[in-house]
Amino acid sequence: MSWWQRPRAERGVAVAPSILSADVLRLGDELRAVETAGADLIHLDVMDGHFVDNLTYGPHVARAVARGSALPLDCHLMITDPASYAPRFAAAGGVSVSFHLEVEVDHAGLLRALRAAGVRGGLVINPQTPLTGLVRPLLPLCDLFLVMSVPPGYGGQRFDPAVLSKLATLRQWRQEDGLEFALEIDGGIDPQTAAPARAAGADILVCGSALFRSSDYRTTIASLRGDG
Ligand code: DX5
Ligand code: ZN
Repeated sequence: MSWWQRPRAERGVAVAPSILSADVLRLGDELRAVETAGADLIHLDVMDGHFVDNLTYGPHVARAVARGSALPLDCHLMITDPASYAPRFAAAGGVSVSFHLEVEVDHAGLLRALRAAGVRGGLVINPQTPLTGLVRPLLPLCDLFLVMSVPPGYGGQRFDPAVLSKLATLRQWRQEDGLEFALEIDGGIDPQTAAPARAAGADILVCGSALFRSSDYRTTIASLRGDG
């Protein structure tokens, strides 16, 4: 049973390796290695060279990754036009698809469309974007909410602890409003920074460079979860 399929109380903290830092020439082996080592999801960082100045993957690669792993594919769209592309990443095998609050799009409409398509939809907030009450009415439409702890665009940046208060606020709103969305954090997560992220309420820890640079994926994944 995948992490998403388990009852919420039994899920535990998920580790979602970001393949941005994997060995691209051995991507199939890397997917199998993190799965064997206990990862829960695969995180795909989609960049369009416009919303961020880096370029990464299209739906073609997403489809191959979805086929190359039994783990649910978590697509993080750092793109200016999620309305056009989110359905394509869903069709390519994305189990969850999230897009940024900072883009000009009908956020509620796209979240509803993803749900209608049977996909878990989510919003993403950048470190510099304040979490205001304007976000709260969108939360009932979210299956996940991703808090960025680095500016989006590149792996290997330093974790910004100032974003932890956003996790805590979202966790409180979730409880007050009787909602179920998962809280995800992305950027600079390693076994040290994972601890305060878990304490602030993160359900999903994205980890790129700290995991793929480590010599033992199983030990690193366990310590990210706090089991190490
Ligand atoms: C940054 C991406 C992250 C990144 C995480 O734009 O959204 O997913 O790959 O990598 P690390 O763990 O190296 O910060
Ligand atoms: Zn990401």
